[in-house]
This record gives sequence, C-alpha cells and structure tokens, in this order.
Amino acid sequence: MTASSQRLKFAEKIVAWQKVHGRNDLPWQNTQDPYRVWLSEIMLQQTQVVTVMGYFDRFLQRLPNVQALAAASLDEVMGLWSGLGYYSRARNLHRCAQAVVHEWGGIFPKTALELQQLPGIGPSTAAAISSLCFGERVAILDANVKRVLTRILGFDGDLALASQERHLWSAAAELLPKATNAAIAMPRYTQGMMDLGATLCLPKNPACTQCPVMSQCLANSQGNPQRYPVKTRKIKRSSQTVYLLWAHTERGDVFLSQRPAPGVWAGLFCLPWFDSEASLEQSVPKVWRERLEPVHPFLHVLTHKDLHLHPWRLRVDFGAAFDDLSGTWVSSQQWPDLGLPAPVRKLLLGD
Ligand code: ADE
Repeated sequence: MTASSQRLKFAEKIVAWQKVHGRNDLPWQNTQDPYRVWLSEIMLQQTQVVTVMGYFDRFLQRLPNVQALAAASLDEVMGLWSGLGYYSRARNLHRCAQAVVHEWGGIFPKTALELQQLPGIGPSTAAAISSLCFGERVAILDANVKRVLTRILGFDGDLALASQERHLWSAAAELLPKATNAAIAMPRYTQGMMDLGATLCLPKNPACTQCPVMSQCLANSQGNPQRYPVKTRKIKRSSQTVYLLWAHTERGDVFLSQRPAPGVWAGLFCLPWFDSEASLEQSVPKVWRERLEPVHPFLHVLTHKDLHLHPWRLRVDFGAAFDDLSGTWVSSQQWPDLGLPAPVRKLLLGD
C-alpha cells in the first residue's frame, strides 16, 4: 500500500471504529449547537467526563444560550463553575460569550481560525468546535490526541518545544479524512481520536489489541508504546501555608471576601486568607480573640502548588465587625450559591 492510501485508510478506520466503539451519547453530543459544544470543550479541558456531566446540565439549565451567559453576572457564572477548578476558564467563558454577542451578533464563527481569536479558545479547542459542529477539516491536538499520534507515528520529538509541537500538528493535518468527504467524516473523526485516547490508547497499559489502527502504529511495532509522548519539561511545584479565618454566627452566616486577581482562586469568595497565624489573630477584634479555635489543617493540591490550609474558627454574635478586613457577611441561604473554592465549600458544609 502506498503512503497516501495508508493515510486515507487511517481516517476511515478511526471513523468506522468510532461509530461502533466510541462514545456517542454524552450530553454534549448529537447536537451541532456550538454553544453546547464550546461549553463542553471548555469544561472538559482539565476535568474528567464524569465530573463534567452534572455541571454541564446544571449550567445549561440556568444559562441555555450564549445571550443568557453574556447577560449573566460574573458572580453567577463563578457560582455555576464552583468546584470545577481552573477558574480562569469561567472568567474567559463569560468574556467569550460577551464577545460572541457584541462582536458576532450572537452567532459563533464557523472556522477554527476565527474561533481561536475569542477569549479562552486555543487552537485545539477551536478545531474541536469547528470540526464537531461544522465539519471543518482541521486537526485537534489535545493531550489525549498527542499521545495517540506520537505513538502511531513513532514521533519522538520533545513536545515541550513549540517547534516539535508544530511538526506534530502538521503530521496530524496529513492524516485527516479526505477533503471531498470532510463535512460528513470530520465530526466522527475528531470524536474518534479523542475516544481512542481516552479509552484504549491510555498512558499506561494501552489496549493495543483492540485498537483499530494497531497495524499502522509504529510504537506498537517497536514494542514499547508507553515511551511516547516524549516531553522533558517538569512543572515546578511549590508549597504554601495559608491561615483561613472561619468567622460565623449561630445562624450560619459566614464572613467571606473575594480573592484578588491574579492569584490563587482569583474572583472566588473565600474565607479571609492570611500568611501567618499572627496576622490572622490581629485581624480579629481583641474581645473575640480568645474564641479562636484551630480546625484540623488539611492539604489541597493545585496544579503548581500544594496549599496547606489551616482554618481558625470563630463563633461570633450577629453583626460582628472586622474593621481591618475587606469582605461581607453572607447569610446561610446565600453562600452556597456563590463561587467558592471546593475545599472551602467542603469545610463550610462540614464534609
Ligand atoms: N474531552 C475533550 N473533548 C471531549 C469530547 N467531545 N468528548 C469526550 N471527551 C472529551
């Protein structure tokens, strides 16, 4: 078989496999509505499918279209996102909806090139939206697909280097379904590449014998698919100890302040945050200080940082004033709907 007919066969095999073995009933599938597909792709960027399911439905019920999202307050959007993590996604989502409404008349653009000009939409997400919704012939390259392609091609360039990533992207473009058939084949091809990465071509112990393109896979013929992808850069991790003032009344009102941007949990409502026990204590009026009680500290792991959280609980009478702290008392009816960091929500709920 010639190299070019091999390439065509590759796309055909992915499409045929997706039809039978791929995921075809997820809540954001069986639609070409770019609002739903865009929302799901942003949620799925750093979050597992099972987690996204519940959030996706709830988000759509509250904000069913791009106009509703653009008109919502950022606090409401953060509330709907609360617990999904990586909150810059929610801020960009809101900005993106406003750009679609104000600059595009409320209609998402149809090409990856235009989509990636919008806030929070990178080249791979843009390609996912335009290929899934509009059948555009463009390649996606998220982490799962990088793994599939580097193995198929035996590509051992270092993907920490932008030049190598560009090479892989060009190779991905050569494997796409043929242009005459793209409008029909592209949505399934894109989904198939994602599904292959998520269900068979796993980081450890890939299920090669079930793979539709095993016979074309260089890594498989070399006998060590786990060697791919090659990436040298390690993220630098740091560690921080944080003291949280958990002031509340008998009725369950809580004192919260909004986190500044940029920084950890920017824009979310949080218990007042201190770098030392002494500064936490000083923020509390003298008459209340002896009521401070330490709560068992716990670890919260972020992408680049381990946060060692040390909450201090303070039961106060209604209306206690913290003159030196910015923030407000929020009633027990209201705080559950705010955008709160997941570990703070758990603490307040007593989980
Ligand atoms: N991860 C990213 N996009 C996805 C999609 N459309 N379906 C399932 N998992 C995904």
